[in-house]
Amino acid sequence: MDQSGKIVILTGAGLSAESGLGTFRDEGGLWAQHRIEDVATPEAFQRNPDLVHAFYNARRVQAAAASPNAAHHALARLQRDWPGEVVIVTQNVDGLHEAAGAEAIHMHGALAGALCAACDHRWTAPPEMTGGDLCPACAAPQTRPDIVWFGEIPYRMEEIIGHLGQCGLFAAIGTSGQVYPAAGFVEEARLAGARTIELNLARSDVSGAFDDHLTGPATEIVPAWVARLTGAP
Ligand code: APR
Repeated sequence: MDQSGKIVILTGAGLSAESGLGTFRDEGGLWAQHRIEDVATPEAFQRNPDLVHAFYNARRVQAAAASPNAAHHALARLQRDWPGEVVIVTQNVDGLHEAAGAEAIHMHGALAGALCAACDHRWTAPPEMTGGDLCPACAAPQTRPDIVWFGEIPYRMEEIIGHLGQCGLFAAIGTSGQVYPAAGFVEEARLAGARTIELNLARSDVSGAFDDHLTGPATEIVPAWVARLTGAP
């Protein structure tokens, strides 16, 4: 791909693993500690809002104390130095891309965001949210983390599909390829004629769909990949 091409990068929990934030499906991951149906669905929130808030409060506090790692910084460098557009689409809800100076489309929402289920108002979440918090706009006691739960529609999908249709290079970094629609992005990019590369510690469920693979910890392979792309050390 020439130097002016658009690059779309999908990131997953593996990118933040070396910043100390747990992944979901690795050994001992978040879904080994909690049942998805208890903490990450609209029904779970209706049934027991305080349990759901406790799950996200713990992750929000942990994410706020985490620092971006060399992989986040390398992606921010790429977004700054690449002559074409670099679009980062993240499944992660931490703020580590932004903390490294990058912009990212948060298709699964963000721990830093709060949402009113009654009036759709959004504001910056306090460190700890409870089921009794009132919406600052409509005062309804229906405030929730601004996170996309299983069974809900990810954010900015039309925009993301548009980027995938125009990119010359698609990279997936640190994602197991088990959750759609993100796991299907590689096919969208291939249909648009993009070259595709997977950067991961291990093979994912969709490794076979990629042209190229880089295997290893993100803090090693992502800076090396960015250096190769930009020609900068
Ligand atoms: N470097 C690179 N890759 C890593 C590292 C690392 N240090 N550690 C783990 N990985 C890889 C694993 O090999 C795995 O492929 O990161 C991936 C983590 O997979 P998941 O835990 O399934 O995380 P993710 O793919 O982001 O999950 C997608 O599922 O539960 C939902 O909404 C949640 O956004 C999440 C979505």
